[in-house]
Amino acid sequence: MQLELKDFDKDFFETLQDKEEIFMSDKGVYYTIIYDGHKAGVVGYIPVGTSGDTGFTQTVLAPEFRGKGLSGAAKELMVKKHGLKTLLATIRKGNIVSIKANEKIGFKMLSEEKMAELRAKGFLKEGDIRMEKRYK
Ligand SMILES: CC(C)(COP(=O)(O)OP(=O)(O)OC[C@H]1O[C@@H](n2cnc3c(N)ncnc32)[C@H](O)[C@@H]1OP(=O)(O)O)[C@@H](O)C(=O)NCCC(=O)NCCS
Repeated sequence: MQLELKDFDKDFFETLQDKEEIFMSDKGVYYTIIYDGHKAGVVGYIPVGTSGDTGFTQTVLAPEFRGKGLSGAAKELMVKKHGLKTLLATIRKGNIVSIKANEKIGFKMLSEEKMAELRAKGFLKEGDIRMEKRYK
């Protein structure tokens, strides 16, 4: 398996099914995921805080490239490229596939107490959950 991150291609992104599941920001850093020479999806992160090593991550794959563990591998490449230490993910409660995919690669759901606190402060929507993974 040959996986690479190449420059973000907005036209390709616009063709992706379920692209509305991810939140794009002007402050985000995005890449096109290339799998064996084919455009497979988009991975990115929105930096958070002042340390520069933490970000909210976002991935969307074209349907034919799902279920092969590519999102986890693409996140690893991005983490190495940018020296990131922590990735956060905000996911719709109903997006079970995404929650499962993140759990499989070591993301942990924040505790209910922590999520309730974030919701009370307006940092997390009622219908969303928050996951986190620390990298070495
Ligand atoms: C969420 C997403 C990035 C996961 O990436 P992935 O690399 O496919 O993840 P995995 O390979 O670990 O597969 C996760 C689950 O997808 C499901 N799956 C397997 N094959 C699949 C396929 N061909 N099509 C769709 N889902 C499939 C399985 O339930 C699998 O879990 P399992 O291996 O325990 O059975 C991808 O499904 C996607 O792009 N979804 C649409 C956009 C989205 O919701 N992004 C996340 C926003 S928070």
